[in-house]
Amino acid sequence: MKYSSILILLLYVASCSRPDPAHTKEALQIFDEFQARLLFRLNAAVEKEGIVAAISICKTVSPEIEKEISVHGWIIRRTSTRPRRPEHKPDAFENRTLAQWQSNLQSGKKPEAVAEIEAGELRVMRPIVIQTDICLRCHGTEDRLDSAALKEIIRLYPEDKATGYAVGDLRGAFSAVRKIE
Ligand code: HEC
Repeated sequence: MKYSSILILLLYVASCSRPDPAHTKEALQIFDEFQARLLFRLNAAVEKEGIVAAISICKTVSPEIEKEISVHGWIIRRTSTRPRRPEHKPDAFENRTLAQWQSNLQSGKKPEAVAEIEAGELRVMRPIVIQTDICLRCHGTEDRLDSAALKEIIRLYPEDKATGYAVGDLRGAFSAVRKIE
């Protein structure tokens, strides 16, 4: 084989292992919708029924939304190194990405969304950084946590690891996986 054909082959292989920008864009749009729907339901629940009732709404509504938006071959979920729901524990790819973002934040760099191909799957992740005080009522340090909410959280999630956060902390990520055709 001539060098030029080897080069073309290498370029072809390299281009195959890069995610299709249209797919990445679609995943990011699904994250936007997921986030908007969650925040809408959370705010409405806190306002109408109070913080304690909002916890069980989060518990039932967020897996429902996850299922509804997992379309076009995507599996969409949220993940965290300190999960509330045990199923939100990160896999190897998610763990690596979350660790990279954590170290970015520590050195003052903003964590950015990633899109990669790994083991025949397209992986897209976007960081969830705590931006507002409302999150701290259910995820904050002891002085910021709502004490009635904390009791309910421990009752519903005996293995909860999702407290102790402050505004600006990395809480977790939106994560999307899809097989490559
Ligand atoms: C009313 C209490 C409450 C408030 C306020 C709240 N959360 Fe949560 N959060 C929960 C519950 C309950 C879960 C677990 C949901 C489930 O079972 O899927 C959760 C799960 C999560 C997860 C998924 C990972 C995990 O730990 O399981 C992320 C990420 C998250 N919350 C971020 C936030 C952010 C950001 C805010 C502020 C905008 C916020 N939460 C506000 C109760 C709350």
